[in-house]
Amino acid sequence: MKQERSSFTNRVGFVLAAAGSAVGLGNLWRFPYLAAKYGGGIFLLVYIILAVTFGFALMITEIAIGRKTRLSCIGAYKALDKRFGFLGWLASLVPVIIVPYYCVIGGWVIKYFVEFLSGHGAAVAGDADNFFSTFISASGGGVLASPVPWFILFVLVTALVVLFGVEKGIEKVSRILMPVLVILSIFVAIFSLTMPGAMEGLKYYLLPDFSKFSTTTVLGAMGQLFYSMSLAMGIMITYGSYMPKESYLEHSVAQIEIFDTGIALIAGLMIIPAVVAFNGGDPSAINAGPGLMFVTLPRVFEQMAFGGIIGTAFFLLVLFAALTSSISLMETVVSIVQDKLHWQRRASTVAVTVVVIALGMLSCLGYSDVLAAIKPLGLEFLDFFDFISNSVLMPIVAFLTCILVGHVVGTKVIADEVKGFGGLFRREKLHRVMVRWVAPVLLLVILAGELLKYFGVISI
Ligand code: PHE
Repeated sequence: MKQERSSFTNRVGFVLAAAGSAVGLGNLWRFPYLAAKYGGGIFLLVYIILAVTFGFALMITEIAIGRKTRLSCIGAYKALDKRFGFLGWLASLVPVIIVPYYCVIGGWVIKYFVEFLSGHGAAVAGDADNFFSTFISASGGGVLASPVPWFILFVLVTALVVLFGVEKGIEKVSRILMPVLVILSIFVAIFSLTMPGAMEGLKYYLLPDFSKFSTTTVLGAMGQLFYSMSLAMGIMITYGSYMPKESYLEHSVAQIEIFDTGIALIAGLMIIPAVVAFNGGDPSAINAGPGLMFVTLPRVFEQMAFGGIIGTAFFLLVLFAALTSSISLMETVVSIVQDKLHWQRRASTVAVTVVVIALGMLSCLGYSDVLAAIKPLGLEFLDFFDFISNSVLMPIVAFLTCILVGHVVGTKVIADEVKGFGGLFRREKLHRVMVRWVAPVLLLVILAGELLKYFGVISI
C-alpha cells in the first residue's frame, strides 16, 4: 500500500524545518574551532566562497532530487539511475557515523548547562581547561563527573522524541528559541570584542593570511560546509521530498544558506576574539580542538554581569539547537531501518538507540584511561569518526552526486525541477558549471591530495 507523502504546508514551514536541521553544533561548536585551527581569516574566506558556489549548487541539487522523485535518498538515487543505487546507501552511512559522536557533544552541552544551572559556572570558569579535560577523560570522582551518563541522557531524549513522533512539538519550541539564541550570541559576541586583546583576535578571524593557505584548509572548509548544511548525507533529499511542488526552491536554498552561515559567523565572533584575549592578544597561541567552545565561553560568561544566568540560558539554547539536529539525524537512520528491514517504528528506534550508544561510547570514553591507548589513524575516536564522515565519506558522496547529475542524468533535469511551475533559476549557469566541472575536479584533487599526504607521498 502506497502512502500519500505528507508535505510541508508552505514554503516557510520547509525553510524553518531545514534550517532547524542545519543549525546545530556544527555552527556553534565545530565552526569556531576549525576556523581557529585552520588559520582564521583564510578559513573564513575559503568557507564563504565555497558556501555560495559549491554549497549552493549541492544543496539545490539535493533538494530538487528529493522533490522530483518524492523519495528519500536510498530510493531517490536509484530512481535517477539504477547503477547509482549504491550511492543512496553510502550517503545514509554518514548519519550512522555522525549521530553517535554528535550525541557525545550533546552530552557535554547538558553537563555544562547543569553546572551553570546549579550555580557552578564560576567554578567551571575558574579552572576552565582543567575542568574540561578532567570531565572528558572521566578522571574526576563519581558517575556524574564522567561524560557517560550525560551522553546517554542526550541519546535517550533524542530517541524518545523520535519514538513518539513529537518532532513537531520540538520544532515549534525551537522556532521561538532559535531567534533568541541568535540575539544572545550577538550580545555575547559584542561583549567578547570589548575584552582587552580581543581586537588581535578579531583581526586573526577576519583578515585572511594567505601564507596559511593549503589544501587542508580547503578540505577542512569543505567538510565543515557539508556538515553544517547537512549535505552529502541524503538529509536534504529527504527534506526535498516533502517540499510542495509550487514553492520557489532557489529562494529557499538561499535563505537556509544565509541563516546557517550567519550563525556560524556569529559563533566564531563570540569565541575566537575571546580566546585570543585570554591568551594576552597572541593568536599564535590558540590551542584549537573540540574543547574550544567549552573552555572559552565559561570564561567569557565569568567576566559578564549576570554571567551565571547568561551562561545557563546559552547552554540551554545550544542544547535545543543540538537536539533539533540530532533528532533529524536519528529520524533518518530510523526510517531507513524501518523501510529496508520492514521493522516497526518502535523496534527500529530501539535498535538504532542501542547501536548509537555502543558506537558513541567509543567517542565518549576515547579520552579516558579505558581507551586512551587506542588511537585509530593516530586520532582520538571522536576526531576519527568526524574525519571519516566529513573528510572522506562526504566528499566521495558529493563527488558521485556531481557525476550522476552533471554527466549521467544531466543538470537540466535539476534545473527543470527548480523552475517548477514557471519559477526562476537565476544561478542556473553557475549551478551547471559547478556540478559538471568545478566541484568534481576540486573534490578529486582534494581527496587525492589527502590520501597522498596520508601515505606520506607529498607534504603540503
Ligand atoms: N548540520 C547540523 C549541525 O550543524 C548537523 C547535522 C548534520 C544535522 C546532518 C542533521 C544532519 O549541527
